[in-house]
Amino acid sequence: MLPQPASRQNLAAKNRFTEQLIAWQKTAGRHDLPWQKTRDPYRIWLSEIMLQQTQVSTVIPYFARFLASFPDVLALAAAPIELVIAHWAGLGYYARARNLHRCAQQIAAVHGGKFPKNEAQLAELPGIGRSTAAAIAAFAFGRRAAILDGNVKRVLCRQFGVEGFPGAKAVHDRLWDLAESLLPESDIEVYTQGLMDLGATLCTRSRPRCADCPVAAGCVAKRDGRQGELPEAKPRAAVPERTSTFVLLTDGQRLLLERRPPSGLWGGLLVPPEGEPADVAGRFGLALGPMTKLPSFRHAFTHFRLTLEPVLCVVAPGLEVRESGLEWVEIERAADAGVPAPIKKLIRQVASARG
Ligand code: ADE
Repeated sequence: MLPQPASRQNLAAKNRFTEQLIAWQKTAGRHDLPWQKTRDPYRIWLSEIMLQQTQVSTVIPYFARFLASFPDVLALAAAPIELVIAHWAGLGYYARARNLHRCAQQIAAVHGGKFPKNEAQLAELPGIGRSTAAAIAAFAFGRRAAILDGNVKRVLCRQFGVEGFPGAKAVHDRLWDLAESLLPESDIEVYTQGLMDLGATLCTRSRPRCADCPVAAGCVAKRDGRQGELPEAKPRAAVPERTSTFVLLTDGQRLLLERRPPSGLWGGLLVPPEGEPADVAGRFGLALGPMTKLPSFRHAFTHFRLTLEPVLCVVAPGLEVRESGLEWVEIERAADAGVPAPIKKLIRQVASARG
């Protein structure tokens, strides 16, 4: 076969993905969920909102109770919000219930009780984002509209090797373009449900079931063994770096420790005085002798990293301190006197330096 230009190969890969997904959905996909086999936009909308952050098995009984109490959009619009919330209780993300009620009222007041029939108008209603609008438009009205929820992003990133964090604007835009370019000419409902089911059941975040996947043969992540790397995680914000000096003041037997204020870093714990030696000396009215810098080291906290720069200062035995909050602690005991982990490390350095 003659080599094909890249754009044509791309097109062929996209067509294969779409066709294989449709064939799989027809034979292996879910067909008997309570909101399937209907074109009623009310039921489809209700199910899509419930399914936004909640699993199918949890949604099923809520969906049934909701329909029993609010059989159509006008019944829902007329119901008191408290009753709607009561029906939602346990599903979580309660903004969804409030938006659901507001949406029903808007459909009653602005659209004469009928759902708008295209994705652009649907997306203007409360609680209906671009992807949910497309799902409703596809399932209820057969519209050729692209969905792109979290599961679909994962499927597309893996299948087509899309690099970058999907929440980044450029990647997000690219995924929308890709999602639109994959839409079939017909069978939009089957394709849309197939894409959802693939992401929910096989192409899961951890331990995807590639052996059962209908589109594994064309999957870039599978080919390169990168299922665990795609989609890329959100880049971590740079962690702030701090540097601080700690004065390890010892008379050869004991170490001077200071109790930290109750709140803040290491609140209430014993720590060698923090600060430049001259400042520490001034703060406590101490006369410091010769000083030796010990090796510095870094400690990672949740929100920052601290480089500790220890300075060893040996004073004559018998130096008395009367400052409140300062305590002499036997060096042998100091590591276990309620000091934070990195300080323990420091104290052990001092203890071992003594031999
Ligand atoms: N998640 C969102 N919409 C869904 C649907 N229609 N079926 C299954 N899972 C879904």
